[in-house]
Amino acid sequence: MKGVILAGGSGTRLHPLTRITNKHLLPIYDRPMVTYAIEALVKAGITEMMVVTGGTHAGEFLRLLGNGHEYGIDRLFYAYQERPGGIAEALGLAERFVDGDPVVVMLADNIVERSLAPAAANFADQDKGARILLSPIEEASHLRHLGVPELDDDGRVVKIIEKPEDPPSNFGVTGIYFYDATVFDIIPTLEPSGRGELEITDVNNWFVSQKTMQYDVLEGFWGDAGESIEAYYEVNDFVRSHGANKD
Ligand code: DAU
Repeated sequence: MKGVILAGGSGTRLHPLTRITNKHLLPIYDRPMVTYAIEALVKAGITEMMVVTGGTHAGEFLRLLGNGHEYGIDRLFYAYQERPGGIAEALGLAERFVDGDPVVVMLADNIVERSLAPAAANFADQDKGARILLSPIEEASHLRHLGVPELDDDGRVVKIIEKPEDPPSNFGVTGIYFYDATVFDIIPTLEPSGRGELEITDVNNWFVSQKTMQYDVLEGFWGDAGESIEAYYEVNDFVRSHGANKD
């Protein structure tokens, strides 16, 4: 399985900090944010990875990560997204790198407490399709900033709603996605959303419509450090006291 880390976008929710650097280079406790996503994938057994970034600070990723060997990556590739056209658009840039293999995609502002290895093993056992990771979240005010799944009585995903006014469940869709190679056939068929982006939720809903979407509920802490300045500090506080990417 190959890994793709998405570190583009404009980071407007963390302005003015993100006027002078890329959001994913800001510190989480004692190191740059993006290194946590890298560590999460390396610990899940991924050794070939592509980092997709964009904007004016892209060169800093090379300076930080180099050839990736220091981080346990065997082969590290980079792609440049010309404008923040959405998560699905950014993923589309990795098509030739992924080259028909299964892929795990992680948003570089997501931080997890526990290992992704069990979810990766579950996806390896899955015949085809996609797999998402859900995190239990009680507050509707938080869920309104995320993708939220609607589940049927048997616990299957019926639909995912992006930033719902009225959240249909108490789970957030985390920014960690497993796909088979068909994902790259879906991306070119997407229409930009109201915010002018190709949405990963539309990709995921395609797999839901094919009945090939499965999920795991993530154990331990999950945070999106790019959601707001409050979320950024909440994630920092958590990582400082408890660490991240633990087995
Ligand atoms: O963090 C989980 C949430 O991430 C999910 O619950 C949502 O369903 C999903 O849409 C996403 O929502 P966000 O509003 O947090 O996405 P955001 O625009 O902040 O982008 C998240 C990351 O994706 C960002 O840190 C870098 C990458 N990205 C984003 C865009 C828009 C890119 O690489 N390129 C882009 O053009």
